Amino acid sequence: MEDIRDYIQQNQQRFIDELIALLKIPSVSADPAFSQDVLDTAQAIKSSLEKAGCDHVEICETPGYPIVYGEKIIDPNLPTVLVYGHYDVQPPDPLDLWESGPFEPVIKKTELHPEGAIFARGACDDKGQMYMHVKAMEFMTTTGQLPCNVKFMIEGEEEVGSESLGWFVENNHDKLANDVILISDTGMISKETPSITTGLRGLSYVEVEVTGPNRDLHSGLYGGAVANPINILAKMIASLHDENKQITIPGFYDKVEELSKEERAEMAKAPFSQEAYNKALDIEAEYGEEGYTTNERNSIRPTLDVNGIWGGYTGEGAKTVIASKAYAKISMRLVPNQDWKEITELFIKHFEGIAPKGVKVKVTPHHGGQGYVTPIDSIGYQAAAKAYETTFGKTPIPQRSGGSIPIVSLFEKELKSKTILMGFGLDSDAIHSPNEHFGIWNYLRGIETIPWFYQYFTALSK
Ligand code: BES
Ligand code: MN
Ligand code: MN
Repeated sequence: MEDIRDYIQQNQQRFIDELIALLKIPSVSADPAFSQDVLDTAQAIKSSLEKAGCDHVEICETPGYPIVYGEKIIDPNLPTVLVYGHYDVQPPDPLDLWESGPFEPVIKKTELHPEGAIFARGACDDKGQMYMHVKAMEFMTTTGQLPCNVKFMIEGEEEVGSESLGWFVENNHDKLANDVILISDTGMISKETPSITTGLRGLSYVEVEVTGPNRDLHSGLYGGAVANPINILAKMIASLHDENKQITIPGFYDKVEELSKEERAEMAKAPFSQEAYNKALDIEAEYGEEGYTTNERNSIRPTLDVNGIWGGYTGEGAKTVIASKAYAKISMRLVPNQDWKEITELFIKHFEGIAPKGVKVKVTPHHGGQGYVTPIDSIGYQAAAKAYETTFGKTPIPQRSGGSIPIVSLFEKELKSKTILMGFGLDSDAIHSPNEHFGIWNYLRGIETIPWFYQYFTALSK
């Protein structure tokens, strides 16, 4: 397979232009105002899969946003790779912090991306990374170098919990049967240090509502004499961590997988500079659970974070008021063996239990999912490692990530196959943030690496 580099060189401008066209469609799954755009994006993916040589490309309707499916079965006796990705994106706000429009992609050079990076919502998560697979497929089919069967399954609800995909997977075991699942929706350590993600954290996401008096009150006439739900909520949230920054919910750590000294020592070998980390985020010091390093805190340890908090008057100037209600959205990132439904129950019980008299508390669970760890001795991992060796000239480092793709554990349960997470993003790509971007170098290197995975996976499967 000598000519993938040539193919990229000849076609790279088109590869970039096609991705830019896809990024112009604002496929925000969380906001119903964008529903037509999400549907339009599904159509665009359908036609790109057809152009890349997939057969039977279809838009599969679900109770929510559709799943785009396509396949190329060359020989039922050969292995089958199932590619998963998502075409929906996170909401772009806060809009005023974007240097260019979130859906008006521009290419700019940065310190880490001297070749240029595409700035747009979804550039890295996940349109850019998903599209690398479409272009790798195009290369393999047009040059007659597809060594095995391929199935594509691209969904539109990943950023809101993949509920419809769960339903689709449960009901389509035969259609989705495969030997390995391949996903590019994670990152790598750096351009010089390729890595393969071997773990994802689980997630429990809840919303809490604290109600005090039955209406908003004058803060002079009533202040001090009734429970202020915002004061109370702040205090309840503060009590969820102790002085060692451990979570105080009883039973929260009971099932947490403890890594051995050796495993932690192995993890610590990955190149990392605390100084550079702090500098990149403009923070004076790191912060987190006592006894663990930054890389442990954001991968092998569970967390609890407020993602949003509101209530009372937040407009211009001052209004003297005690609000009737206060709210917060809270995420808990979970590690292997913690069950997200169980943790959600523990949270509800604890949070209701710590509410003082004078307020009512309501907890509404949103989505969640199990964590995932994958062994490095599988054929899939070995094939991925060889693919990186071929294109980066270096053996990739296995690394657990702090992020979540809850559907991955469901894939294992329903389809009985392992997932390989070949991510080409960088932490600095600002996914879910203003000014999200994806390096052109990363994009093209991804397209180059993927066909090698197919080659090695097919060879190792024999
Ligand atoms: N692609 C991300 C997850 C990710 C990013 C994992 C980088 C590892 C490294 C995915 O789109 C995502 O944002 N997942 C959500 C969970 C989902 C249920 C909303 C997350 O991790 O917050
Ligand atoms: Mn993603
Ligand atoms: Mn995401």
